[in-house]
Amino acid sequence: MKQSFLPVDRLIQEPYSGILGYPKATKKQIALRIVELQELGISGVLFEGPMTIGTVNVLGKGYAGIVVLAKKGTKKIALKIRRTDSPRKTMEQETILLRAANKAGVGPILLHSSKNFIVMEYLDGKKIFDWISDLRGKGSASKLKVVIKKVLSDCYRLDTAGIDHGELSNITKHVIVGKSVKMIDFESSSLERRVSNVTSATQAIFIGSGLAKTVQKIYSVPPRPKIISVLREYKKQRTQQSFDNVLEILKI
Ligand SMILES: Nc1ncnc2c1ncn2[C@@H]1O[C@H](COP(=O)(O)OP(=O)(O)O)[C@@H](O)[C@H]1O
Ligand SMILES: [Mg+2]
Repeated sequence: MKQSFLPVDRLIQEPYSGILGYPKATKKQIALRIVELQELGISGVLFEGPMTIGTVNVLGKGYAGIVVLAKKGTKKIALKIRRTDSPRKTMEQETILLRAANKAGVGPILLHSSKNFIVMEYLDGKKIFDWISDLRGKGSASKLKVVIKKVLSDCYRLDTAGIDHGELSNITKHVIVGKSVKMIDFESSSLERRVSNVTSATQAIFIGSGLAKTVQKIYSVPPRPKIISVLREYKKQRTQQSFDNVLEILKI
């Protein structure tokens, strides 16, 4: 991966302006965003990562934001840039939710935020789907169990804190596995909805299509009805004991 550090004031130029104001922005909007970045103390952006937009590499892209690797002082951070066509007018709501998740010990650490940006801990790793697909050889099952246990424990923390992540039925894109195992993207989360993190994630990992098929190849998971019944009990009780039962049935 090529390292190309670009000082913030150079983002006014193409093709970089196209990332800062993706998919479309006026010169004035770009100039204002550059000031906003300077106020956040961002010194520059490192255009590298697994995804490309035009000719530029980024860490990732979603419906609400583009995430790039950036520098604040000597520290590498992840910078989420609000897409100009995002349904959200500001990053305020996502900031509130990420802060709440952090308080529960979950998610990348929130460092700063502003109208159009979230500055957070950079997670160096692979998306859980890719990580599992690349798992091979001896010890795979126990490595996988460690990762799943961390994911479900984070889900339990969110459930207990009353935060519903909202996109865990599609968990493949929302967990990054590297030195740490962390859930990302609280853009669709809610403090009002009924929480379903543990149940959604367990279903996605063990019952749904996609991820579940790969997991089943690595270790023999219990029969579906058994998983469903222990989840049903957890849903009713939502206690540590009922969560521990879920882990026990899943053999993690
Ligand atoms: N803290 C982070 N560290 C590293 N990569 C990240 C981080 N946050 C997001 N990403 C990458 O950026 C992508 C888009 O981020 P996401 O928060 O899902 O945006 P959206 O709200 O638009 O869906 C993610 O799928 C992931 O690949
Ligand atoms: Mg997303």
